[in-house]
Amino acid sequence: MIKNMDYPKGATPLEAEELEGLKFSHITTRGELDHLEQANISAGLMWLKRRKDNSILNEQFILKLHTQLFGDVWRWAGSFRHTEKNIGIDPVQISVQLRMLLDDVQFWLDNKTFDPIETAVRLHHRLVYIHLFPNGNGRHARIMADALLEKVYGIAPIDWLAGSDLLQESERRDNYISALQLADRGDYQALLAFVGRG
Ligand SMILES: Nc1ncnc2c1ncn2[C@@H]1O[C@H](COP(=O)(O)OP(=O)(O)O)[C@@H](O)[C@H]1O
Ligand SMILES: [Mg+2]
Repeated sequence: MIKNMDYPKGATPLEAEELEGLKFSHITTRGELDHLEQANISAGLMWLKRRKDNSILNEQFILKLHTQLFGDVWRWAGSFRHTEKNIGIDPVQISVQLRMLLDDVQFWLDNKTFDPIETAVRLHHRLVYIHLFPNGNGRHARIMADALLEKVYGIAPIDWLAGSDLLQESERRDNYISALQLADRGDYQALLAFVGRG
């Protein structure tokens, strides 16, 4: 059983049924869980780097990426969320809203609606707004934004962390969450400033 599971502000608490999806029964603390997740994410990032196919704007890739990042730790990795959260849309709408997002991003690319960083930031925000998965949405959506920049635009990824840890309470995390809340209302300026393009 997991003890000491306290969450930084803006992180999704896990439901009991999701905690049951943990593949390691010996875990007792949040720190141990973070460590296992981090190892899994590192392996997932290597998978992403090796992957030759640059098509990332499709549901199959988005689910596969989540599996690669979290599938060693969580049984539900790569599956859409079924439970309501304090962040995110009604779970029954997830696949339709994802389809609309992917169509929008393709339209933005085809029409050069936004510059690369703004396209990546808008993709990131819409992914976390939908909140596809029971957990790992922030990390998955930051990696998706970077994959768009690196694999579609061929440019450098965003420096999301800028020396701090976005999973822990910090001033930078507070700024990030506030910027996402403004983006929820359609104002992307703070989020663009956060990624260094103010
Ligand atoms: N008001 C909000 N609007 C949109 N996204 C948000 C909001 N609050 C938090 N988030 C996003 O949700 C993420 C937390 O969701 P979670 O599934 O726990 O991801 P992770 O486990 O990777 O931190 C945050 O990192 C942030 O990206
Ligand atoms: Mg989380």
